[in-house]
Amino acid sequence: MINVKILTGYPEMFPGGLAHSVIGKALKEHLFKLEIINLHDFGIDNRKSVDDEPFGGGPGMILRPDVVEKALLSASNNQNLNSTKIYLTPSGTLLNQEKLGIFAKLDEIIILCGRFEGVDQRAIDVLDFEEVSIGDYVLAGGEIAAQVLLEGCIRLIPGVLGHPKSLLEETFSNNLLEYPQYTRPKVWEDSLGNKHDVPEVLTSGHHENIKKWRLDKSTEKTKKIRQDLYIKKEQKQD
Ligand code: ADE
Repeated sequence: MINVKILTGYPEMFPGGLAHSVIGKALKEHLFKLEIINLHDFGIDNRKSVDDEPFGGGPGMILRPDVVEKALLSASNNQNLNSTKIYLTPSGTLLNQEKLGIFAKLDEIIILCGRFEGVDQRAIDVLDFEEVSIGDYVLAGGEIAAQVLLEGCIRLIPGVLGHPKSLLEETFSNNLLEYPQYTRPKVWEDSLGNKHDVPEVLTSGHHENIKKWRLDKSTEKTKKIRQDLYIKKEQKQD
């Protein structure tokens, strides 16, 4: 079971999306545990402040390192655990499927969610947080990013998904985007009266042809819209 500990100034944002669908079921079935630590419980002075102005000037507020340390120390810690500490920030290394697979094998994941302009760099360096970004865009804080990371990670835990075989074929395995999928009706008549059939091969029952068609479609799509992945795939084959 993975123990997830979230350090946040907005505890009411959790479990949020993590309470629903397959991840919510995994939470109920104790396939992972979620502990939310409110940074405001560790604020200083009578205002319980957790942030302050940046030295050197500039806009916004910075999360104080002493507050982060106290919150972290409060998270019950077993030294022997296979654990990682993540600080979610747009200036971190980009999250990908491979990283999610590594996180999914840990015993403990501690996530610091930033708001404000950021976190005092000493907290990140001294307390050994890995800086991770979920994409090249800026959110207002790390709480939604934490839920994105956790949803991607928890679904990889054995027993969480109904069809573990589908993990092998999904987007990003083998650096390929997933092939298009179709279901009933076989012929769909849209509201304008136009008829749209599904690709014939899929209803042929010929498994080898279906497999080849899907691989061709995956390759075609990857080449067209994700040159970066396509190049990686080609390099791996050499
Ligand atoms: N916080 C704000 N933007 C973020 C991003 N892109 N990734 C992770 N954390 C963030």
